[in-house]
Amino acid sequence: MPPDSFLQALETHFVPDRVIRDAGALDPYARDNKVEGVPPLAVVCPQGEDEVVRLVRLCREHHVPVVPRGAGTGTVGGAVPESRCVAVDLTRMNRVLEIHPGDMIARVEPGIVTEVFQAEVERTGLFYPPDPASADRCTIGGNVATNAGGLRAVKYGVTGDWVPALSAVLADGRVLRTGHRTRKGVVGYDLTHLFVGSEGTLGIITEITVRLARRPETRRTLIASFADLPSCARGVQAILAGSVIPSAIELVDAECVGAARTAGHLSDFDGPYLLIEVDGRTNDVMRDIAEIGALMREGGATVTTARDEAESRALWDARRALSDALRDAAPKKMSEDITVPLSRLVDVLAGVRELAAPRGLRHVSYGHAGDGNLHVNILYDPTEPCIQERVAAFRSDLFDLTLRLGGTMSGEHGVGIAKRPFIARELSPQSLAAHRAIKQALDPDGLMNPGKIW
Ligand code: MLT
Ligand code: ZN
Repeated sequence: MPPDSFLQALETHFVPDRVIRDAGALDPYARDNKVEGVPPLAVVCPQGEDEVVRLVRLCREHHVPVVPRGAGTGTVGGAVPESRCVAVDLTRMNRVLEIHPGDMIARVEPGIVTEVFQAEVERTGLFYPPDPASADRCTIGGNVATNAGGLRAVKYGVTGDWVPALSAVLADGRVLRTGHRTRKGVVGYDLTHLFVGSEGTLGIITEITVRLARRPETRRTLIASFADLPSCARGVQAILAGSVIPSAIELVDAECVGAARTAGHLSDFDGPYLLIEVDGRTNDVMRDIAEIGALMREGGATVTTARDEAESRALWDARRALSDALRDAAPKKMSEDITVPLSRLVDVLAGVRELAAPRGLRHVSYGHAGDGNLHVNILYDPTEPCIQERVAAFRSDLFDLTLRLGGTMSGEHGVGIAKRPFIARELSPQSLAAHRAIKQALDPDGLMNPGKIW
């Protein structure tokens, strides 16, 4: 059926406030934080699960694909349309439905901003640990759809580790409720975690149940500056071999500090350094921070401990701003989120250098070293002759290097459009066939976020 009749049907089924048709207003939905696609035919902004159901039924009837979207902070094009479709903007479904301190459970709609939810939970003395760097903008629905990691994953794991149940509208308009609201539950297949990380390709997530933890009494931050990157990487390994698991262990290389400074983002510390946070009961934290400081000094580091909450906050804000700072530092940046086993951290950092140097590429790395998860960036000017080819060859070799070291091409950002051409390097034919069978069973007409992952 031609789009015109579909667009008329949209207007019949939804009040004008829910539908965006104006070309200028559609334009931002053509992209995420990195990938450029095409604007959708229309955007629908549902305000409840019933409206998502109505939209999906209508799209099915008219054979129009749907692309679900949170805040659009992704970096692999997972929420970016590639063909004429309807984008489903879930940011108006942003209510906290329940916080149950006794059960240590909360239920939320997908469009709530992660940091807003974290603050609401903390007011009850509880704590929602998953903490993507973009927590002040991204949504929990997006975090679940990509199984986002973040800064505290080293101690607390990734988003999926905190999601025992969810609801999703399937391609035929039925609502699937998965999982359980208890702390444990093992009845049936783990359908919840089939949807976690599925990037909107199996259905539209409309409600999420999350587990909560007790809010830590104290947090302390420490910076360990090393002479070189291998010492930094060995520092990470030394910490994780010890008796204290920090809530965050982030690495920032010297080039990264330089690039952030050039772009006007200040940092008092020269890289390479590890930015470490320990949380827990006050007495334990004081002892733990001293223990980690001693370990870092043994490894040759100069150690500075943040004096107070404000200083600590400034250090973490600067770290969270790195991705944007690097974008300001060059006309273009390529950024990946490879992850290797912890024992291969030194090797991967050396390997990155070996891949970049002969190609004359300016590379900077930072990221969640405590998880073996690094953001490897190339900063370049796209007008330079043959640069696109050199960057593409570097990227391809970077994935091969990562896989050779036993790693994965994406630790937290997902596949989306950007890593789609490479997926068969990591997943076996059997695994790809299982993925296809699941997709076929749940979305036989391929209307749910087409072209992502595959
Ligand atoms: C970060 O850890 O800062 C982000 O995951 C990086 C990014 O958005 O590229
Ligand atoms: Zn990250």
